[in-house]
Amino acid sequence: MSRAWALALAALLAGCGAPAGGLRATWRGTFPVPWRFAAPPAPVAGRYAMVVSDEPIASAVGDTILLKGGNAIDAAVATAFALEVVLPQAGNIGGGGFLVYRAADGRPYTLDFRETAPAASTPTMYLDSAGHEIHSSITGALSAGVPGSVAGLWEMHRRFGRLPWRELIAPAIALARRGVVLDAPRAAAFDDSINRARLGRFPSSVATYFRNGRPPVEGDTLVQPDLARTLELIADSGADAFYRGSIARAIVAEMRRSGGIITAADLAGYRAKWRAPLETTYRGYHIIGMPPPSSGGVTVAEILNILEAWGPLPRFGSAMLLHVELEAMRRAFEDRNAYLGDPDFVTMPLARLTGKAYAESLSRTIDPNRASPSVAGPAMPEGHHTTQLSVVDPEGNAVSITTTLNDDFGSAVTVAGAGFLLNDEMDDFTSRPGVPNLYGLVQGEANAIAPGKRMLSAMAPTIVLDPRGRPVLVTGSPGGPRIITAVEQVISNLIDQRMTLAQAVSAPRIHDQALPDSVFWERGGVTPDQRRVLEAMGYAFRAHPIVIGDVNSVLVTPTGLEGLADPRRGGAAAGW
Ligand code: GLY
Repeated sequence: MSRAWALALAALLAGCGAPAGGLRATWRGTFPVPWRFAAPPAPVAGRYAMVVSDEPIASAVGDTILLKGGNAIDAAVATAFALEVVLPQAGNIGGGGFLVYRAADGRPYTLDFRETAPAASTPTMYLDSAGHEIHSSITGALSAGVPGSVAGLWEMHRRFGRLPWRELIAPAIALARRGVVLDAPRAAAFDDSINRARLGRFPSSVATYFRNGRPPVEGDTLVQPDLARTLELIADSGADAFYRGSIARAIVAEMRRSGGIITAADLAGYRAKWRAPLETTYRGYHIIGMPPPSSGGVTVAEILNILEAWGPLPRFGSAMLLHVELEAMRRAFEDRNAYLGDPDFVTMPLARLTGKAYAESLSRTIDPNRASPSVAGPAMPEGHHTTQLSVVDPEGNAVSITTTLNDDFGSAVTVAGAGFLLNDEMDDFTSRPGVPNLYGLVQGEANAIAPGKRMLSAMAPTIVLDPRGRPVLVTGSPGGPRIITAVEQVISNLIDQRMTLAQAVSAPRIHDQALPDSVFWERGGVTPDQRRVLEAMGYAFRAHPIVIGDVNSVLVTPTGLEGLADPRRGGAAAGW
């Protein structure tokens, strides 16, 4: 504790933890009636440090690490391991993710720990010769990519961590061994009929999560002894335990039992990769985003650039704002779906896609009175498979991490004896050309399956700096392709609409991803009047309302920090 206060004092004296003041909130509007977050939640206020994640215990773990004198990377690593225990539906040591890090000295870094396709994978591994699906890219061991999370957390700690690795995993081990009481939002995922059925197909998942053949309910204590042992091995031997030791052997054994193809060589060969951050601007603010193999940074940048080229945006609540947003989104998603993939395998026109000139040309194609043409498509489920954590420490280091298992509970396959779920990230590839994936995304050749390749993601961990280069926002979201539009709308709400963080995050969102060409909206978030105007312009509202994103953020204000977990899922901020 004393070290933490010493750090805070040092930061205060040096001015390096001093708050920026680049975002002034002046919005006086109201949200549509009835909108469930019409009264935005109060953010958690802090002066020096803040952790926001999808689970209150995990945020408290990160906060404790900061109080012990750990830095933002330490806190993020500890929070991520805690999330594996308390949020098994999204985890994740059996999945992968991305880090966007802005060090207090001003240098930005991005780390790619996305899963890779196993060496035995092929572009048509889920299809027969007639193009019909013969294997699932969503459920079962064959849907799993080589996990990247442990390598990513190990690598970010190796390069930037301060506290001992073991100390960061100790809280997760204790939580797994002693058990955690499931609260309502966490229990709801187990209660979902599809999730129950998927988990119920795999004896190791039933043994790990069910009691007497039934999934846990709110108030049950989830004790995970196998996971505790796995985490202990990782605490003792680092990433090697996972990729070369007994955990690797357990994964390979599970592959043999459950029909997967990940080998010992796939695991031993996995590497997290530092990538050049994707840096763009929006109306004078500086955006640090994740480059491919995530489409997040590029597509957020392209949407924002189109909005900037449009000029000052219409006021929040107007049908015209929804129109401009939807048109910008669909143009950026057309490019995303056509061009983006793993940079180690495909060449992408990134400079053009994120350039202001290109955005201007796209902006000029927006007809102020008409929607672009529509094509029918399926509705998209909303899951709890991805998770966002945002951290700022007393020195001014800022971390945004998004991780994912892809679907709720990933592939639904738990590694027997090791107690963690494997991802079903292979579905993020173009596994069936021309056919929508789990998220309704219809993607191109650039994202075809190839051995060792990383599947295209939509995760968009993001850090925004004010025009003087000081961090003002650390943010990100789960939600598949809705990650991109959720993050973009929060940024635009703050900068264009001058909302508070609570207003910007609580505001109803819309989403368009080019195909299926339907407006996606949140229940109660589009008024009958707005909808009438948009339908008259040619927009189709074919799908059911969905939840769009879950944006966990830290805002740096003139007086300190605000942490806000998106009220859509019931995460929590913890700070001081
Ligand atoms: N699995 C969702 C994503 O990475 O976009």
